[in-house]
Amino acid sequence: MAHIFIVGGAGQIARLMTPQLIAGGNRVSSLYRHDEQHDQLADLGATPVKGDLTQLSPQDMASMLTDVQTVIFAAGAGGAGEDLTNAVDGEGLEKTVAAAKEAGVKRVYLISVFPEAGRNADLGDGFENYMRVKKMADVHLVQSGLEFVIIRPGTLGDDGATGKVSAGLAVPYGTIQRADVADFIAQAVATPQIVNTIIELAPGDDPIPVAVSALASTAR
Ligand SMILES: NC(=O)c1ccc[n+]([C@@H]2O[C@H](COP(=O)([O-])OP(=O)(O)OC[C@H]3O[C@@H](n4cnc5c(N)ncnc54)[C@H](OP(=O)(O)O)[C@@H]3O)[C@@H](O)[C@H]2O)c1
Repeated sequence: MAHIFIVGGAGQIARLMTPQLIAGGNRVSSLYRHDEQHDQLADLGATPVKGDLTQLSPQDMASMLTDVQTVIFAAGAGGAGEDLTNAVDGEGLEKTVAAAKEAGVKRVYLISVFPEAGRNADLGDGFENYMRVKKMADVHLVQSGLEFVIIRPGTLGDDGATGKVSAGLAVPYGTIQRADVADFIAQAVATPQIVNTIIELAPGDDPIPVAVSALASTAR
C-alpha cells in the first residue's frame, strides 16, 4: 500500500486516524515537534519524524518525503496568533506543497475549515486572518498541479465518534466530532477515486462508508 506522511502527525485528528491508516495496509510517517510525542506516535505504529514547520526548508521537507506517495496536512497553529497562523497554516502548507512536488509525492490531503465557521460571531481579527490563510492555502494546493483532496470540517468537537456524517460539495454547517473527521479521512484515503475535490464535512445521518461511497460514485 502507500507510504503516507502526516504533517502535524501528533495532532488530535492525526493521532485518531493513524491506526486506521495503518490497519488499511499503509505505512505512516508523522512529523512531530516535542520529544514526548515520539513514543506516543511509535506506539500508534507510525514512524516519528522530528521537525518544526516554521524552521524546515522545502528542501528539508523534500528529504523527509522520499518514497512517500501521499501527504496529509493536518497541522495548524490552533489560534496561537496571526504570525504563527501565517507560518504554519499558510507558509507551512506552501512549503509542504513545494517539498511534495520536489520529492515526487502524488497526492496531498489538506484539512481546511468550513466556510461558515464563526459566521456572525465577531471572533476578531485573528480569526478573520485564520479564515483568510486557510482559504489561500486551499487555493495554493488546488493550483499546485498535485492531486488534492481538501476536507473542510465544521467546528470540531470531542464527544466521540458517531460514525455518521454529511459530506459533499455543499452541506449545511455544524459541529462535527474529531473522531468522525479522522474516520472519514482515513476512508477517503482508502478510496483513491475521490480526488481533485473539496469536501464540506458536517454532522449528518449518512454512515461514513455510505458517504464515502457516494462521493466515489460521483467522482469525475
Ligand atoms: N478547531 C476547529 O473547530 C477546527 C475546525 C475546522 C478545521 N480545523 C483545522 O483542523 C486541523 C486539525 O485539527 P486538530 O484538532 O487535529 O488540531 P491540533 O490537535 O491542534 O493539531 C495540529 C497539529 O499541528 C502541529 N503544529 C503546529 N505548529 C507546528 C509547527 N510549527 N511545526 C509542526 N507542526 C506544528 C501541532 O503540533 P504540537 O502537537 O507540537 O502542538 C499539532 O500536532 C487544523 O489545521 C485546524 O485548523 C479546526
